[in-house]
Amino acid sequence: MTHPRPPWKTVWITGASSGIGLELARLLDSRVDHVAASARSQDKLDALAAQAATVHSYPLDVTDATAVSACVAEIEERGDIDLAVLNAGAWALMSVDEFDLAAIRTGVEVNVMGVMNALDVLLPRMLSRGRGHIAIVASVAGYRGLPRSLAYGPTKAALINLAETLKTELAPRGITVSVVNPGFVDTPMTRDNPFPMPGLMSAKDAAERMLAGLERGSFEIAFPRGFAAQMKLLRLLPDALYFWLIRTFVLKS
Ligand SMILES: NC(=O)c1ccc[n+]([C@@H]2O[C@H](COP(=O)([O-])OP(=O)(O)OC[C@H]3O[C@@H](n4cnc5c(N)ncnc54)[C@H](OP(=O)(O)O)[C@@H]3O)[C@@H](O)[C@H]2O)c1
Repeated sequence: MTHPRPPWKTVWITGASSGIGLELARLLDSRVDHVAASARSQDKLDALAAQAATVHSYPLDVTDATAVSACVAEIEERGDIDLAVLNAGAWALMSVDEFDLAAIRTGVEVNVMGVMNALDVLLPRMLSRGRGHIAIVASVAGYRGLPRSLAYGPTKAALINLAETLKTELAPRGITVSVVNPGFVDTPMTRDNPFPMPGLMSAKDAAERMLAGLERGSFEIAFPRGFAAQMKLLRLLPDALYFWLIRTFVLKS
């Protein structure tokens, strides 16, 4: 259940040109004073802003640390960022036979270093203010190693670990940290996946669940609930049982 008036005035969303980030920006439009929407596709951000009342376009490549710093400074000219949703992401299906270092580097640069570049600018600002909310979009694919996920899963595992680390230090300093772990969401990222996607949900539904969790100030926001719980259960299994399940039900399917 989302509230008519969320607890933030300025929200920065990276990866807002499509999928979950786009739907989140739309949901927040008019409900917060300033939704700063970032991604590389300026045309898509401008189209979003043109149809919105309080969404503004801040084109950005999150892998460019200098540009990230300039972007945050520009957004904060209009008001401090109360909530940063670090959502930009890159996905590539890759098995060991297809090992592609360039694609792996892109995954690390966008998914991990993109978040680090944002933290580099946000943390000193939020720490000096003693307030703020940082949400990192990871994935249930970060819970355990999965087949054909070598360019993606490790980056999302790193983000889950990072969010836990940040929470330990930032909670006593007045800064809220959330980690968002979606299951399968119907977005351009997943549209070409050649495998079944249990629990597939719409991007709007995903954004609504994300927003409700952020408004509650939850640490982990994972959805859809049933599929996320099953994936989380895998984390608790002994290795031998986990690898047997993968061999039997995933690799042979
Ligand atoms: N869809 C799923 O099933 C699923 C499941 C778990 C987690 N997630 C995570 O949810 C997040 C959103 O994904 P989505 O499903 O909504 O996918 P999407 O529609 O492909 O959106 C990805 C967004 O990231 C932006 N982006 C990519 N590289 C960027 C860069 N270098 N700099 C700035 N922005 C960049 C893209 O915009 P531009 O191309 O315009 O830059 C786009 O706005 C990702 O972190 C993804 O890993 C998705």
